[in-house]
Amino acid sequence: MTAAALGRPRLHLRVAGSTNDLARELAAAGAPHGTLVTAAVQTAGRGRQGRSWSAPAGSSLLCSLVIREPPPLVSLRAGVAVAHLVDAAAGGERTGFGPARVKWPNDVLVGGRKVAGILVEGRPQEGWVVLGIGINVAVRVRELEGELRDRAASLGLEPGSVETVLASLLEELGRWLSAEPGVVLGALRARDALLGRTIGWAEGRGVAAGIDDEGRLLVDLDGGRAALSAGDVHLL
Ligand code: BTN
Repeated sequence: MTAAALGRPRLHLRVAGSTNDLARELAAAGAPHGTLVTAAVQTAGRGRQGRSWSAPAGSSLLCSLVIREPPPLVSLRAGVAVAHLVDAAAGGERTGFGPARVKWPNDVLVGGRKVAGILVEGRPQEGWVVLGIGINVAVRVRELEGELRDRAASLGLEPGSVETVLASLLEELGRWLSAEPGVVLGALRARDALLGRTIGWAEGRGVAAGIDDEGRLLVDLDGGRAALSAGDVHLL
């Protein structure tokens, strides 16, 4: 990965389908490392595991970055960077919930609720990934509908703060994308939202037992220990 600044060139759209789709198109066409796509609104925002990602207009940071020659643990690095940004933007003192936690692999939680989501997509054979990040900057959680209202958190800032949050995010990403893997894992372990909790995933259930040196989630099962390298886990 080059040390070039993140966020340039930048394409900003008032309305986009998915900023990840646009960034992927740009990456496939040769866009340089650090290329950024942002939107005020997404009409087809995507999350992990085929889920959708929706956010009230202007309430969120919706961005996708082209990363060339991605470092190992890139998806975990993004989670750690966003967690640090969340602390700086809406620290524990303000929210009363303490430091932001990371639910492996990279959901960022405040008070057990999701404040940011990260979707990493790429073409390893072409040497790039797109980091798609959505952060609830000024979402009014009580105005959300259904399940989202019970599960989402917000930085509680004003819509005018989205650009400031973006600048801090790019700074944190610059720092964590170039950090030593051991430092990244240490930071992640210190914020592990799953440690000691009973979790379930497609093939089973067990008790989360930390993150190994490859960034896999360790899970204690009745008959031993498993190491999950991908997929979706949920708290039981
Ligand atoms: C998740 O938690 O499931 C990941 C959510 C990722 C959402 C962001 S918003 C900007 C970018 N564009 C998308 O379509 N998705 C990501």
